[in-house]
Amino acid sequence: MKFDLIQKDKATKARAATLETDHGVIQTPIFMPVGTVASVKAVHQRELKEDINPDIILGNTYHLYLRPGLDVLEKAGGLHQFMGWDRNILTDSGGYQVYSLSDNRKIKEEGVTFKSHIDGSKHFFSPESAMDIQRTIGADIIMAFDECTPYPCDYDYAKKSMHMTHRWLDRCISHFNSTPPKYGYEQTLFPIVQGSTYKDLRKQSAEYIASVEAEGNAIGGLSVGEPAEEMYEMSEIVCDILPEDKPRYLMGVGTPINILENIALGVDMFDCVMPTRNARNGMLFTAHGTINIKNKKWEADFSPIDEMGITFVDTEYSKSYLRHLFAANEFLGKQIATIHNLGFYLWLVRTARERILAGDFLEWKIKMVQQMDKRL
Ligand code: GUN
Repeated sequence: MKFDLIQKDKATKARAATLETDHGVIQTPIFMPVGTVASVKAVHQRELKEDINPDIILGNTYHLYLRPGLDVLEKAGGLHQFMGWDRNILTDSGGYQVYSLSDNRKIKEEGVTFKSHIDGSKHFFSPESAMDIQRTIGADIIMAFDECTPYPCDYDYAKKSMHMTHRWLDRCISHFNSTPPKYGYEQTLFPIVQGSTYKDLRKQSAEYIASVEAEGNAIGGLSVGEPAEEMYEMSEIVCDILPEDKPRYLMGVGTPINILENIALGVDMFDCVMPTRNARNGMLFTAHGTINIKNKKWEADFSPIDEMGITFVDTEYSKSYLRHLFAANEFLGKQIATIHNLGFYLWLVRTARERILAGDFLEWKIKMVQQMDKRL
């Protein structure tokens, strides 16, 4: 993997860069649409590629391991082949999904025992098995196995958990280095900073993660219910310690405003279910604020979904029509809303990159944050 820092913003810590893997170039800052079970929900691969156009998407180890399972993925020749996506893929390690199971899992030094959300069957993930599974899935960027702590989290637990995540990282690295990739292209392992919302732990964790000299680094354990200001504070502490010449990935974040604020702190990569999940509930993100398309006020509003026309759905359909599709519970409504939201998120990070390159990112960010903080 190759990372080239193209431009550092003068007024903020934002950066424009390129990241290159065997599946192509990723221009950063980037938002990675989430494709948990080998599908970015409600979007065809063709629309994803041609209309939304991200350089990279996300898959989830936990879900793909349970379904379709490793046999199928290996026979298919890996996830890219299986789902018909020839650009970059990143897989999360399962650490976060296992954390979300709360009552259905047991965490020990050796690893995590958990019950499948599908059929209740028992499984075990360890740092080693998370590497093996991600070798078989075959994503370009794979994540270390970690524990994502909840919010709030008491200091002693956060500290113990962080040290275990660090020990798990050592096991991930040595196992990863002793197993070759399966499909003829390189894979890169990103470690994950933890430490909950404690400044000293975040600092300690970022220093440890930086010391392993991985090709890219991630920040986990945020966007788990803490106030945005606390998230920004943690993100800043960590970004200031993680090496400048490596990409920084903030996991599971967030709203359009969260993304712009974190770009300003030096984050390069983001993923979140928000644009896809909220779309399926009728919530649209726009440059002028959010829209609940189910609201009666749109019943006879025949104006385009979004005058900006970022993707074809924005101008081909009216707000009234989209509202009707949601009222009638038609699949097409969810598809249109998802394409719109992902198109908007990708526009947002692409424009952030352009503004960083042009040298007026801060002015643009201030204006956008003000504009987007509204309900239409
Ligand atoms: N996704 C969002 N937050 C996290 C985290 O802390 N760890 C992992 N593995 N995935 C995440």
